[in-house]
Amino acid sequence: MPLPKAELHLHIEGTLEPELAFALAARNGVTLPYADTEALREAYRFSDLQSFLDLYYGLMAVLRTAEDFTELADGYLERAAAQGVRHAEIFFDPQAHMARGVAIGTVIEGLAAALDRAEERYGVSTRLIMCFLRDESAESALATLDAAKPYLDRITGVGLDSAEVGHPPAKFRAVYEEAARLGLRRVAHAGEEGPASYIREALDVLGVERIDHGLRCLEDPDLVSRLVRDRVPLTLCPLSNVRLRAIDVLEDHPLRTMLGVGLMATVNSDDPAYFGGYVGDNFGAVRDALGLGPDELRTLARNSFLASFLEDDEARRERYLAEVEAYEFGAGGA
Ligand code: HPA
Ligand code: ZN
Repeated sequence: MPLPKAELHLHIEGTLEPELAFALAARNGVTLPYADTEALREAYRFSDLQSFLDLYYGLMAVLRTAEDFTELADGYLERAAAQGVRHAEIFFDPQAHMARGVAIGTVIEGLAAALDRAEERYGVSTRLIMCFLRDESAESALATLDAAKPYLDRITGVGLDSAEVGHPPAKFRAVYEEAARLGLRRVAHAGEEGPASYIREALDVLGVERIDHGLRCLEDPDLVSRLVRDRVPLTLCPLSNVRLRAIDVLEDHPLRTMLGVGLMATVNSDDPAYFGGYVGDNFGAVRDALGLGPDELRTLARNSFLASFLEDDEARRERYLAEVEAYEFGAGGA
């Protein structure tokens, strides 16, 4: 039995496995610029975040109907559950679909259909977090939030993703203020490729409660002290960091250091179909590469539930935390 955990940094579009991509392409009459799944997998050699994003947005062409989004999310939830995920807070990128003529309602209703039965089917509770593309304009982000207003009962929070460098958090001050007024929780990618100052800005200007990635916080000791003091969760994605060349090899990942200084680190998969593994695979990979023991793995699992947006269901959080405390590590369990 895998260690119970929450996944807090997961782009649903990043769970599009090559097999599903080709099945949806055939169903929707979309021609992909790859001969087969093998040729597509061959293209997963990324040099940086942008080289990944180009392929990631391109492959979304196959996602057209609500059923496509339902199938995508259902497949993720089944695979995640098999790796111990008990709760998932799932990102989606509405602008990437609206730009292709897919209505935001189609995306949200399609995802919601899968999420609504995830508890019964897979024993996984869920939340949805709508991300703004930071390489699009602030006006586009505001228009997207406006378009989402009929569906706000399905959305727990907002996030910020896509190409980071050159698109600092402050660009999105207005839309985050509006999101706060609407009662939405706030997170943002910061410090993945961008500098530690973007992490500060996300906290100070956008009022975020968690930092997605936050890898580069260690470059700023005062910032680290603040993150530790305020218990700001970092949603780290180790296999993603290696695949997108933020770090050279997993053995160099600062996760152990981060736990050592008291940062509230969590481990997540980001875009598992592209980066070589789901969240349990990420746990296993850092366990092996960094020599993490049961105490550290349990801390990571505990952190994932403490950092999750379960304030509306504290009884559930307590149940999940009790599962973590009761977990018995077998040989190599993660
Ligand atoms: N970083 C930024 N934007 C993203 C990512 C990522 O790792 N995955 C999907 N959108
Ligand atoms: Zn991400």
